[in-house]
Amino acid sequence: MSKATDVVWEALEEAALEVQARAYCPYSEYPVGAAILGRSGRIYAGCNVENAAYGHSICAERSAIMQMVAAGEREPIAVLVVTRGPKAGSPCGACRQMLVEFAEDLPIRLMVNGEPERTRTTSLAELLPDAFRPDSLLPKKS
Ligand code: THU
Repeated sequence: MSKATDVVWEALEEAALEVQARAYCPYSEYPVGAAILGRSGRIYAGCNVENAAYGHSICAERSAIMQMVAAGEREPIAVLVVTRGPKAGSPCGACRQMLVEFAEDLPIRLMVNGEPERTRTTSLAELLPDAFRPDSLLPKKS
């Protein structure tokens, strides 16, 4: 997204911060908030939700994807993730793979609470090159 869409990044940041405050992370004490902008202009937010059986925990990014799909939207066009420091947390492999199901590429902004100077903007294609995508499953032409 270009400079003209700074206002959209601001809306995503606000949504991510709001949902990060609701993260359920008593084990890691590492709250994460993610906000996805859909092609429709709607924003979907998700936080991490942990479990005493640790492996069942879900990340903020996947939680936001679930919100988007459940709302009937399947075209994310930008993602913003906010974590605590010391450095901005980058989406885990599972979340990258879940995102690439719905977008070949999109801008991803990573932020640290209260430390705007640590913001970095990357992209899905940069974080997950040569991804296994739905079209990888197309039948072979013989
Ligand atoms: N976490 C996320 O929410 N997103 C990521 O991409 C990486 C990790 C969460 C999972 C767990 O609740 C906590 O951060 C510590 O790993």
